[in-house]
Amino acid sequence: MNATATAIRSRTSNVRVASDLDRAQLRRFLAGLSPASILTRFHGTGFHPSEEMLDLLLCRALPGRALVVEDDGEIVGHAQWCASPGRPDVAEISIVVADAWHGHGIGTRLARAAIADARAHGVEVVVAPVLDGDRAARRLVRRVLPGAARQFFGEVVDYQARVA
Ligand SMILES: CC(C)(COP(=O)(O)OP(=O)(O)OC[C@H]1O[C@@H](n2cnc3c(N)ncnc32)[C@H](O)[C@@H]1OP(=O)(O)O)[C@@H](O)C(=O)NCCC(=O)NCCS
Repeated sequence: MNATATAIRSRTSNVRVASDLDRAQLRRFLAGLSPASILTRFHGTGFHPSEEMLDLLLCRALPGRALVVEDDGEIVGHAQWCASPGRPDVAEISIVVADAWHGHGIGTRLARAAIADARAHGVEVVVAPVLDGDRAARRLVRRVLPGAARQFFGEVVDYQARVA
């Protein structure tokens, strides 16, 4: 690992649980995402970071948790897991990293932390919905959920794996 990679890793190594205090930061983070990242994270282009959407992304009143990675007080990555209605043992997991920070391992760290957190809260099966053409997300899923089964729903592939 070169000096830049080591510096980036140490600056962004802390994955922490997000709270309502992160609202303004999260809004800024989402506003800075490229259209491509919006599309691959939210599977559509009409995304608007409304207060209701921020509530969802902070898992307020949802059976799950949001995790973030920061650099210098600003969010550079967000992950969340959310249990399925009536199935506390099955959770969907989603991740997005600021475009300028792609490829530095933040997505992998967030994914592993979200899976571990979900497992600690009784989740046994994780589902990761990924757009079929999203190479980075596919590679990420293969790395953190090796052997995950795939189910196709149009352009969305649900990767499903047992984690407990
Ligand atoms: C998918 C995403 C979260 C990965 O985050 P990241 O911090 O770049 O991930 P990492 O650095 O940990 O790399 C994970 C894998 O993605 C690969 N990757 C990262 N950026 C890539 C790119 N632009 N093109 C192809 N592969 C890429 C890495 O090489 C790595 O694969 P490897 O383990 O085989 O080497 C990030 O690209 C992103 O935010 N995309 C937009 C939202 C999204 O697609 N979310 C997933 C669905 S919820």
